[in-house]
Amino acid sequence: MVVQRTIKEVREFLDSKRAIGLVPTMGALHAGHERLIQTSRAECDFVTVSLFVNPLQFGPSEDYSRYPRAWPQDLEVCERNGVDLVFAPAVEEMYPTPQLTVVNVGRLDEHLCAKFRPGHFRGVATVVLKLLNIVRPQRAYFGEKDLQQLTIVRRMVSDLNLGITIVGVPIVREADGLALSSRNKYLNPEERQAAPALYRALEEAASRIRSGERNVSKIREGALAVMGESPLIRVEYFEVVDLDELQPQEVVNGPVRVAAAIWIGSTRLIDNISP
Ligand code: PAJ
Repeated sequence: MVVQRTIKEVREFLDSKRAIGLVPTMGALHAGHERLIQTSRAECDFVTVSLFVNPLQFGPSEDYSRYPRAWPQDLEVCERNGVDLVFAPAVEEMYPTPQLTVVNVGRLDEHLCAKFRPGHFRGVATVVLKLLNIVRPQRAYFGEKDLQQLTIVRRMVSDLNLGITIVGVPIVREADGLALSSRNKYLNPEERQAAPALYRALEEAASRIRSGERNVSKIREGALAVMGESPLIRVEYFEVVDLDELQPQEVVNGPVRVAAAIWIGSTRLIDNISP
């Protein structure tokens, strides 16, 4: 039996007893997803994982149909990590009628990835809001790997007074620095070998910032030189951004993050680092 004598303690205790956690995913679970699930398991009484490849967030020429699906393995990963509930709806369950109501998170959805994937974050914000309304968690878990997604979800939850705690979880990487991603499966051996150059370039930028460089052109120049060594890589963007809205900066003035997207063959990879 528990005895509480203060309002603060009794509230915190009861909240912790009610805590439902939600980890939204598109399946093909890897150690990055597992970290989210484990964080939720440590903080919540009841852990829900959603597995849903959301058509609304893929552009017409993107990889919706070939996106990896790994149903039996995903259930094993959930089972192994003590998940209480897996929500794996069919597309018709989530979108029985055309989705006329959508969520646009203003100017957070205009730069970085949004510039190259029009409509992507509208699809993400819309499905995340639907999942939050279906599961009604107290806490929801998102990876810092998708920094713009995390920023947009946080802003949606705050702008719409959803009262849900959004927990950001640090990036899980391979030993050579490559951030884990379901899309890494697309890389052939040669591309896989070239891929960690993205992390090395981010590290180069971070180290220049740490040593006091404030001119972003110079930071970018040094970082791009690291990736320039690989002919397989095409850089989509490489930016130094502020932490609030992730707006690209020309001069480092206060806390920033370095964020980049590259193509290796037909695979798009994103990553970011805190200096
Ligand atoms: P998905 O790509 O499956 O990722 C699900 C969650 O895992 C995201 O919050 C993502 O940031 C996190 N994640 C992926 N790789 C990670 C890594 N290496 N380290 C830490 N976290 C990582 O992101 C989506 O799905 C979808 O857009 C979704 C939010 C489910 C909406 O459809």
